[in-house]
Amino acid sequence: MVKPLKEKVLNTLVNDDSYKSLFLKHQDILFKELSNIYKENKIYGDFPNLYSEYYNEYYHSVSIGPIEEAYNKFVNPVLELLKKKSDVYILDIGSGMFVNSGILAYELMKMDIKPHIVSVDKYTPPFVNINYEADNLRKAFYDNNFYIDNKHIHWIYLNIDARKIRYVNYFDIILHDGFSPYKNPSLWSLDFLNILFRSLKTGGVWVSYTANKSVEASLKILGFDIDFIPSCGRKTPSMRAIKSNIPKPFFKNPYTIPMRDKTLRSLEEHIIVDYFLRVYILREVYGF
Ligand SMILES: C[S@@+](CC[C@H](N)C(=O)[O-])C[C@H]1O[C@@H](n2cnc3c(N)ncnc32)[C@H](O)[C@@H]1O
Repeated sequence: MVKPLKEKVLNTLVNDDSYKSLFLKHQDILFKELSNIYKENKIYGDFPNLYSEYYNEYYHSVSIGPIEEAYNKFVNPVLELLKKKSDVYILDIGSGMFVNSGILAYELMKMDIKPHIVSVDKYTPPFVNINYEADNLRKAFYDNNFYIDNKHIHWIYLNIDARKIRYVNYFDIILHDGFSPYKNPSLWSLDFLNILFRSLKTGGVWVSYTANKSVEASLKILGFDIDFIPSCGRKTPSMRAIKSNIPKPFFKNPYTIPMRDKTLRSLEEHIIVDYFLRVYILREVYGF
């Protein structure tokens, strides 16, 4: 039986030397802050949805439901920008129930635009009918073993950890829909966002539902131009980011990363070994 993520995170925290070196008062506050992030969140809304027991989070907004969420957060923010194209290349990160990609594909096909979609998820949920016109297309994708290739649409599915994908200057659009950044950080790190940045064409658009400050900082470091889409069903807006035509790739030189002394008490040898290991990991991952 897989341990819940909450238990794994809290275990990792209390065994970390930096945590042990905090004042007891701060240890206590941090423990409570993290426990609170992972608390169970089941409230059963009225909309078709799925709940991840591992992440303690719903796939789609319980307040506005999957259809309105897909249009407001993912489809409308990009549709206007695509209307003059004949073909659109889409990367669908955290494809889940294929709602965002299914609805975007459905809308593009109505406009006589051919979507070429690469959907990526490490877990494939069962088909869920969301009672919408795009259901036929989503169902056909499930029934055809997650593959459609005809003159109107090309859609494939990679059932892998999204951190493994490597494309360069290929996509016009990225739909980024992981679970929330503090619960699912593997999909929101600077390093993963850099993989996505590289996979977008210049002028390509990344869109998501979050306005998380750490994610915003990473997008800025990578050289995205960010704008905010007004809120719908949530208090905070969501972000849309465009790969500008003056790219400033972050990992041009792996030696440009900071040396870190997290506790301000580390030994010289630990600081320098930690630095060089991170430099060499970057060299391996990005092929410098
Ligand atoms: C909020 S749900 C996505 C909902 C989906 N976009 C839809 O339209 O139904 C988040 C998804 O991210 C996936 N996920 C989380 N971490 C991942 C990773 N490292 N690689 C690939 N998929 C991941 C989960 O399996 C889950 O399906």
